[in-house]
Amino acid sequence: MPFSLRLVLAAALLGLSFLPSVFPFTPGFPYGSLKVRGVNLGGWLVLEPWITPSIFDNTGNSKIVDEYTFCKLQSKATAESILKQHWDTWITESDFQAIAAAGLNHVRLPIGYWAFEVGPGEPYISGQQAYLQKAVTWAAKYNLKVIVDLHGAPGSQNGFDNSGQRMPTPMWASNNTNVARTNAIIKTIANMFKDQTNVVPTIAPLNEPAGFDSGVLSVTQQYWHDSYGNIRFPFGSSKTSNTVELIHDAFQPLSFWNNQFTVGQGYQGVMMDTHIYQMFSNELVALSNSAHISTACGNAQDLSTFDLWIVVGEWTPAATDCAKYLNGRGVGARYDGTMAGSPKVGSCTGLTGKASTFSSSYKTFLRQYWEAQVITYELGQGWIQWAWKAESADEWSYQAGLANGWIPQDPTDLKYPNICG
Ligand SMILES: *[C@@H]1O[C@H](CO)[C@@H](O)[C@H](O)[C@H]1NC(C)=O
Repeated sequence: MPFSLRLVLAAALLGLSFLPSVFPFTPGFPYGSLKVRGVNLGGWLVLEPWITPSIFDNTGNSKIVDEYTFCKLQSKATAESILKQHWDTWITESDFQAIAAAGLNHVRLPIGYWAFEVGPGEPYISGQQAYLQKAVTWAAKYNLKVIVDLHGAPGSQNGFDNSGQRMPTPMWASNNTNVARTNAIIKTIANMFKDQTNVVPTIAPLNEPAGFDSGVLSVTQQYWHDSYGNIRFPFGSSKTSNTVELIHDAFQPLSFWNNQFTVGQGYQGVMMDTHIYQMFSNELVALSNSAHISTACGNAQDLSTFDLWIVVGEWTPAATDCAKYLNGRGVGARYDGTMAGSPKVGSCTGLTGKASTFSSSYKTFLRQYWEAQVITYELGQGWIQWAWKAESADEWSYQAGLANGWIPQDPTDLKYPNICG
């Protein structure tokens, strides 16, 4: 019996409602058999104050705290010329070459909705699509896979500056127009790459929606379902694409997502993205170095038993929030007590900035913590470090880690293979 017919029968026997899961499916990367090893091209097509603080400092305007205010609170001509210069220089072909040479196989590329459509009254400047296309061309040349990651949605899905707009009450989920605009953009992206899944195997329809708010969480569940249709069926309902949909856990424990997007539920080609950071609470930032490592190792069970493919799509060997503007432009750090409400753990001196200021024991810790995470995250389908580059926070930079020895030239070349015991 042909494989697909067998599946149809199996599906019929199981009473599955979503018959499309029986279509043949060959992802552009063998998820599940090869490990994802990659970097995020953060701070390129979506500005982040902590990745490029100079771009924000040079405005001379302390009210410019994100890409939205960057475009709104200065002349359009000025903003546009700085953005263009940044897009032309922050990531170039040589970065793709270096990423491939470092033994990595994926880049995750954050992009904002405003690259595709700017609504009336929105100050955003577009022009990023040409760079997305260049990135895909370069990735093809160096045999890298691109995950296109919608990092900012209309209204902001989380209020973080990295969504484009820092705001106390994000407006994406509470406004149907915003969600409808986002769905249309995902359709556009899916169409753009549906015949190039060997280079763009995966689309992430929304980064970090604020699921810690129950209203946002339920909108997000529906949105992951609708994005499944948009990403997996760009040819119409009679044929699937080979594109994988990468959904984010929306800050919920993985157990929340059990039995929601599996083949048993009628889905096929849905992968989970979880982000693991250990500095965004007073408790986590106060952990000792050995506790950071054992906490990383402690993710083994969750990652190895989850019911979908799972990648850790953001993580870092940095263990503090000391990087300038990491918590937002003008906001201090928990670690050194300069953020309101945070007791001081220690001084940030020597823990952020240029690697030339890092002690050898700190670099040894960065290597151990990096290896503990790589070992653990490969118990799932793999990992994508945040980020390839940062202007003045080498502890976050994959490139700086390679140059200064806390990241190996070959990511499988481990010095501490038993660090998790
Ligand atoms: C919903 O969002 C759209 C933009 O996507 C905006 O024009 C509209 O005013 C918003 N509606 C409400 C009630 O805030």
